[in-house]
Amino acid sequence: MNDTTTLSNAVQQASVSKDPITAYDQIRQRCPVVHDERLHWTLFKHEDVVNVLNDPQTFSNAVSRHVSVPNGMDQPEHTIYRALIEPFFNESRMAAFEPVCQEIAAELVRQSHQNQEFEFISGFAQIYAVRAQCAFLGWPESLHEPLNQWVRKNHQATLAQDRQALSEIAVEFDGYIRTLLEERRKAGTHAPDDLTTALMLETVNGQPISDEAIVSILRNWTVGELGSIAACLGILVNYLAKNLKLQHQLRYKPKLLPAAIDEILRIHPPLIASRRVTTQAVTVAGHHIEAGERLTLLWASANRDEAVFGKPDEFRNDRDPSQNLLYGAGIHACPGAPLARLELRLIMQELLKGTSRFALGENAAPVHAMYPAGGFDSLPIKLVMETCCGACS
Ligand code: HEM
Repeated sequence: MNDTTTLSNAVQQASVSKDPITAYDQIRQRCPVVHDERLHWTLFKHEDVVNVLNDPQTFSNAVSRHVSVPNGMDQPEHTIYRALIEPFFNESRMAAFEPVCQEIAAELVRQSHQNQEFEFISGFAQIYAVRAQCAFLGWPESLHEPLNQWVRKNHQATLAQDRQALSEIAVEFDGYIRTLLEERRKAGTHAPDDLTTALMLETVNGQPISDEAIVSILRNWTVGELGSIAACLGILVNYLAKNLKLQHQLRYKPKLLPAAIDEILRIHPPLIASRRVTTQAVTVAGHHIEAGERLTLLWASANRDEAVFGKPDEFRNDRDPSQNLLYGAGIHACPGAPLARLELRLIMQELLKGTSRFALGENAAPVHAMYPAGGFDSLPIKLVMETCCGACS
């Protein structure tokens, strides 16, 4: 058995390991570029991942035959859609959404189980993500539950790599969006003044944007929101439950939160990997890769590379933010990052303000999500609210 085969097995095992992040660390130190049948070429090093991100001509995003706007596009088409999407996440949009989102966060903390252990991912993180997403896009509350179910089904089908189920789930999502679009078209000038209506009024090369493009854009935003925000929230709460000194510091100095959140999510990455395909033969870290071959960029390893970050587990609030690949880099860097940062800051602020302490539950252990999902499948948490000074207990 050669070393590549052993490593290839290790990659597979890491995907199902109880602690995949540590498994990726070990592989990165032994062999930073791994080839295997399932993930093809996997890049573990920060430098190699950044080189790919900065060369979109050689490393294409057109990895699927399905339309995916803008995720699956290359230049010049990608540039047109990015220009259309980015203003939806600009400063004035974020400023307008902040008080709405703050109220959602505060209400959820008020409604949450206090002083008793509960499952945090389904009982808090996913609820916040879906409420924030619907409020941001102007979607009705009646969509909360169907969207929650949809994310669950999408997650399971992705894990099982069940193509049939995935295409049925895509059709189901299309149905929700097309209903929203029809309602707005029927309402004409009385359509609600929200982001979904604004998106419908966009043009591409002087022509009205197609329904197919709208559905795809909204699907990608929904996956970004519902999948990633919930995963990030689980990671943040788990980390602070285990690091009480930092939790205490952030409770009394919320100004430290933005940098702390990005750093915790570097240490424990919520997004595991993204894909690319080569448009021409190329050499990556000494490995010859033919045109048309697939690559996996392993964020969960690159963002912990000791060559850039020293000790990967060391929490530092003063790192160079440009090195952190949490939201990617290059032309496909996350356009939703301002929204994600806003939502995560507000919910963490409210959670810290509304509790005296949060701790890991004692009746069950956290369960890591399996590749390609990041974060936790389940996370027992206790939100402690002390009503007296504590001197009598
Ligand atoms: C919550 C945490 C989030 C994380 C960690 C995250 C991370 C990322 C990363 C690393 C990429 C780059 C992927 C690549 O290069 O292949 C990306 C792309 C993207 N993200 Fe996010 N994201 C988050 C939230 C969001 C949200 C809230 C939205 C929208 C509402 C969003 C929409 C997108 C879109 C549309 C792309 C594709 C951009 C393109 O291809 O040009 N993401 N995200």
